Amino acid sequence: MKALQFDRFGSPDVIVVREVPKPEPGPGQIRVAVRACGLTPGDWALVDGLFADQLPPLPRGLGTEVAGVVDALGEGVTGVGVGDRVFGPAPLDGPTAGAAEYALMTAWAHTPEGVTAEQAAALPMAAETAWHALDDLGVQPGESLLVHGAGSTVGEAAVRLALHRGVRVIATAGPARAAALEKIGARVTGYGDGMAERVGALAAGRVDRALDAAPTGGRIDRADQASPAGGALPTLIGLTGDPDRVLTISDFAAAAELGTRITQIEMRYDRMTEFARLAGEGVLAVSVARTYPLDQIHDAAKLSQSRRPGGKLVLVL
Ligand SMILES: NC(=O)c1ccc[n+]([C@@H]2O[C@H](COP(=O)([O-])OP(=O)(O)OC[C@H]3O[C@@H](n4cnc5c(N)ncnc54)[C@H](OP(=O)(O)O)[C@@H]3O)[C@@H](O)[C@H]2O)c1
Repeated sequence: MKALQFDRFGSPDVIVVREVPKPEPGPGQIRVAVRACGLTPGDWALVDGLFADQLPPLPRGLGTEVAGVVDALGEGVTGVGVGDRVFGPAPLDGPTAGAAEYALMTAWAHTPEGVTAEQAAALPMAAETAWHALDDLGVQPGESLLVHGAGSTVGEAAVRLALHRGVRVIATAGPARAAALEKIGARVTGYGDGMAERVGALAAGRVDRALDAAPTGGRIDRADQASPAGGALPTLIGLTGDPDRVLTISDFAAAAELGTRITQIEMRYDRMTEFARLAGEGVLAVSVARTYPLDQIHDAAKLSQSRRPGGKLVLVL
């Protein structure tokens, strides 16, 4: 099968398309014929060496989320059959991962009727992160929540899930995503200069909690690559009046300095069935900006790293 692999760290340039053996599902695993593989900023961080000491030696694959059709079942697997459409995370502990013609999965849910493979592959990481971030922030129905960076995939998932939980949502986003976010029920303004005043006006002076879902542009574990002065975190603290009412998913160095909360997901993916139900009901979705074939991974990486992808980037097979 064809798969993306890298056998040294450095930059997306090291990612190559290779002909490799199909992976064999172990106990509790399924193998899918991949139709779509979601890309995240974390993919480039992994190629740069993030978690290198915790993951198996190179060569490794990339692509942490897939949608496809079940092609083989490992021992002990129940509740799913060959030919079923499924989506979920792809494990990173083999020589290939989700960006391949076939991928293994240890957690999955059935892709709902009416949801395409591209739409399903856009969901796992964004939904998992947004869900845990809202829980970790402790946001309650009726409260006002600022989602900063709502144009990111995690930001969009957080807006949708928060609205569904009965939270009043104010969002910051650029012009590409603003109208779509307003349509689903958020009050939206731009980020950048004057953001605090504009958000304050939309919230009538009161923001209960704030979630920073904007990409930092650097590795989340590297203080030297984070945005200067924590990006928007000081503004979010000013708007809520308390660093404990602010949570970032990306700027951990600034969070440690400023005392805000953080969410770092543990890849549990124990809510896939719930995410599938919400996607089937039209509650949960992440906008797909562009799709690419496997051999255009470098173009996809370039757009993702520009920090203005304008939605989810997805490989299609
Ligand atoms: N903690 C965790 O476990 C975890 C899990 C997943 C992801 N993350 C991190 O979360 C961040 C978001 O991930 P993602 O995949 O959702 O990102 P993404 O979709 O690649 O985010 C890109 C979008 O962010 C918006 N943006 C860019 N610069 C911004 C700024 N300065 N202020 C506000 N918005 C800005 C842009 O939208 P518009 O300009 O169109 O509004 C852009 O299209 C990344 O840093 C990622 O590494 C963390």
